[in-house]
Order: sequence, then C-alpha cells, then structure tokens
Amino acid sequence: MDSPPPASAASGLAAFRQHFPVLEWAAYMNAGTDGPLPAAAVQAAARELDNQGRTGRTAAHFEHRHELGDALRGAYAGLLGCTPAELALTTCTSEGIALVVGGMQLGPGDEILTSDEEHPGLLGALQAARDLSGVQVRTVALADLPDSVGPATKLLACSHVSWVSGALAPSALSELAGEVTILLDGAQGVGAVPVDVSALGCHAYAGAGQKWLCGPDGLGMLYVSPELTERLVVPRRGYANFESADGGLDAVLHADARRFDCFGVGAEAVACALGALGVFEQAGWEAVHARATALADELVRQLTDCGRSVVPRGQTTLVSFSSDDPEAERARLADSGVLLRDLPDRPLLRASVGAWNNEADLARLIDGLQRGQ
Ligand SMILES: Cc1ncc(COP(=O)(O)O)c(C=O)c1O
Repeated sequence: MDSPPPASAASGLAAFRQHFPVLEWAAYMNAGTDGPLPAAAVQAAARELDNQGRTGRTAAHFEHRHELGDALRGAYAGLLGCTPAELALTTCTSEGIALVVGGMQLGPGDEILTSDEEHPGLLGALQAARDLSGVQVRTVALADLPDSVGPATKLLACSHVSWVSGALAPSALSELAGEVTILLDGAQGVGAVPVDVSALGCHAYAGAGQKWLCGPDGLGMLYVSPELTERLVVPRRGYANFESADGGLDAVLHADARRFDCFGVGAEAVACALGALGVFEQAGWEAVHARATALADELVRQLTDCGRSVVPRGQTTLVSFSSDDPEAERARLADSGVLLRDLPDRPLLRASVGAWNNEADLARLIDGLQRGQ
C-alpha cells in the first residue's frame, strides 16, 4: 500500500478539503458521476455572470469568452500531457467520443474492438456506427484487448479507467498504436489518475470536466493527435471551428484540434471550471492523486474486513463492492449523508474516492454499511 503523504502535503490536503461546501455535511463519494464543486468555482461563475449582467455583452464579452476558452484549453492540455493545439473543448466525454467514432467514417467490412465494461457514453457511439454505417462491433474482456486486434479492426475504443470495476486499460495497448487507431474514454481517468496521452499511446482521449475535475456540467475535453486530426472528417462546423469565419462557405477549418470544438460554451461555465482547477493546482496534482488512490486502497481493506467483496481493480479511485440490494442500500446511506452510487443491473455499489475525502468519510461509509446488515 502507498505510504501516507508527508506532513506538509497532508496539511495542504486538510486545507484542500475546506474548499468543498458539500463536505460540511456529506461523505461525498460520487465524483465518478459528478465531482463536488469547490466554493471558489461557484464564486467564479457567479462573478462572471454578475459582470455580464452589469456591463452587458458586447464585442468585449465575446473576446473575453474566447480568452477564457483558451485558458481552459491550456489547462486541460496540461492535464493530458498534450499541447493546446491538440485539444478540443467539448461539452462532455460522450461528445468527444462521438466526434472520433463518427469522424472516422468507418463502414461495412470495418471493425471496432471494444470491451465488456464500457459506459453508454461510448457504447452509444459504437451503436450508431453499427446501425447507421454497417460497422462490425466486437466485444472482449478489457484485459484481452491487446491480443484481440484482428485484420479488420480499424478502431480500438475502451475506457482508460473502467466505470464498473476501476480497472485500468491494459498498458500493452500502447504497443498497438502503429497498428490500429486507439480511442480512450477518460471519463474516470483525467483528474482521478495521472494521464499522459503519449505514454498511453492513444490517438484520441475524451474526458469530462464535471467529474474528477470538479467543474460544472457541460464541459469536457478531447485530445486528438495531429495525425488523427488529419484523418477525421468534421461534419459539424461553426464559428468556433474556423481559422477565420470571414470566408463564408469557403471558410477554412482550424488546422489543429480546435476544428472539433463544441459550440456555445458559456464564460460562466469556463470560469467555474478554471476556478475548480485552481483549487487542485494549489494543493498539487501529485499530492491529490497520491492521497486519493491511497484512501481508495484503504477503503478496499476496510470493506474486505467487513465481509464485502471488492471487484478487482487498478491503482485508481473507484471502488466497486458487493451489495445484496444496491438501490436500497444506496438510498439508506444517502439518508445518513454518505453519497455514492449503485451500478445499474449489477449487485454493486461504487464509491468514488477523492483527495477531498478523509478517514472519517471512510468510517461513515463502513459504519453505515454495518448498521444496515
Ligand atoms: C466511463 C464513462 N464514460 C463516459 C461517461 C459519460 O460521461 P459524460 O457525461 O462526460 O459524457 C461516463 C459517465 O459516468 C463514464 O463513467
């Protein structure tokens, strides 16, 4: 098990916890759905809206929106280990995934390889490729993906971190980058565990702003390698995607990943996201990751001690464990201020453990589970 963080980091993380108002009453373990919003993020969004209300929204507002968007692009790119030019701003993980799967324009005779632990955010795009374009979709176990690429496989699409088990995508996938296009669903990755798209060897990585980065709903990111950027079609085009929109019907798309940007991102949402990232940066990402994974490991130990079986997982922040009646148990825990989720159609509860949690939160969860037995 990881050793506890040094004293200076630990005191920094105690201060970090103070940023999240929901922790005043809840043991919050639901970041896999939506992270806890820091007060600084809420205030940044409120300030932004207040300013818009008072000053109006003219060309200066538009420029300001643009500058905020670029700041967020830079911050997200830093988190994925790519350049801002390789990063598109999206509304969510699912949108980034759909842009890549749809943009590859696969058809009959082509195969997409995926795993049996995928989220509807990925499965929806694969279903569309199958039903609308005649693509074959083949499903294998997450661990078997590296050995399952076949001659027809054009795209390998899977989770970086499984939303079901918390398992990591096999590291051997990085060796396949020359053979097949690799798309990682990073909804449970970015912010939860360190991400380096080069080391992962993926061509595209789609992530969420509202989960482990504790930003608002409606913002996400998509890394696309320069080589894949050239191969993807861009069926959805608007103002944000053009180098200059002055060319009318002949306007030229951005050469870089901005060609995939979503439309209509509000300045208040971006300010909120940047406010949340500032809180993490102050605490230090290394300390945040180390604390969250160490607490998740500790939770596994305590759950096992009290007779729950924990689904085999990786060095991540998700802990899924057995429950005879997950829906009822989730609701009962929520009544006592312990917030987590049950997994649909599986006898499992899932705790999302963040650096904002502490040992007392784990104790509340274990106590709540034992009281109900
Ligand atoms: C693995 C995974 N992929 C995709 C999604 C969908 O994320 P988003 O709402 O950002 O599209 C989720 C959401 O829980 C998820 O866990």
